[in-house]
Amino acid sequence: MEKKFGLIGMTVSHSFSKSFFDEKFFREGLRDYHYDLYELKEIKDLKKLLKDNPELCGLNVTIPFKEQVIPLLGDIDATAQRIGAVNVIKIKDGTLLGFNTDSDAFLESLSKWFPNEAGSKALILGTGGSSKAVQEALKKLNIPFQIVSRTKGKGNITYNDLEKSESIISESNLIINTTPLGMTPNNNTMPPINFELITSNHYIYDLIYNPARTMFLQKAEMHNAIIKNGLEMLHIQAEKSWAIWNN
Ligand SMILES: NC(=O)c1ccc[n+]([C@@H]2O[C@H](COP(=O)([O-])OP(=O)(O)OC[C@H]3O[C@@H](n4cnc5c(N)ncnc54)[C@H](OP(=O)(O)O)[C@@H]3O)[C@@H](O)[C@H]2O)c1
Repeated sequence: MEKKFGLIGMTVSHSFSKSFFDEKFFREGLRDYHYDLYELKEIKDLKKLLKDNPELCGLNVTIPFKEQVIPLLGDIDATAQRIGAVNVIKIKDGTLLGFNTDSDAFLESLSKWFPNEAGSKALILGTGGSSKAVQEALKKLNIPFQIVSRTKGKGNITYNDLEKSESIISESNLIINTTPLGMTPNNNTMPPINFELITSNHYIYDLIYNPARTMFLQKAEMHNAIIKNGLEMLHIQAEKSWAIWNN
């Protein structure tokens, strides 16, 4: 029986999710399974998408719909509810069930890479859906963090505060970019932090995986920081999505 899965977002053509699932379905002999990319102008277009594709069993959700999709769900799992963002939808008997696999995927990926020695502190750049997933993971790992936003009040601090107080970057040995700055096709952008303060003591994690080395990671590497992109996290969250769809 044909089963459809896919990714909804505003711009999805650069996503790696389709090739991940196409290869998986091929490897596992799931010839009737398909994974497609669905660009939606607005989240309310999801209703038409579901009507036109009754074989849809599961969806991944990306920018800018991870929070906007919540009111359209029939139910939401407790973790996704607490995080306030949904990146996986399971469609069961026409009802949409929301989950978040970004947070545990980030936790798993970070734990393998970041030593989390005593005194570790993190800076999270951005306050969107993936920032919330990262915040949940850092709480579970007992890593204290500050959230940096362009707007006063949305995070704990702003990029202006980072400029005024050099000690914040110097004392944060883990810096995580959860903004889309630097993501293809806007490769020549990056979060506005002072790279002169970055040293070999810093671990810099960029959730972006396309390109593999964003300008942010390149700059950090030039200052001898240890760097990681979001590809491993993407793969882990995709496997976790698959487990939810098949449960
Ligand atoms: N590797 C993975 O598995 C994975 C998983 C999830 C997401 N991601 C990547 O993470 C990125 C963010 O995704 P998201 O879903 O969290 O997006 P989002 O909900 O749109 O949030 C992005 C946040 O970044 C900040 N931001 C946006 N535009 C900015 C700009 N021009 N300058 C500075 N800050 C800006 C905003 O925070 P403020 O308004 O507070 O500044 C915004 O809330 C994307 O590149 C996505 O592909 C990767």
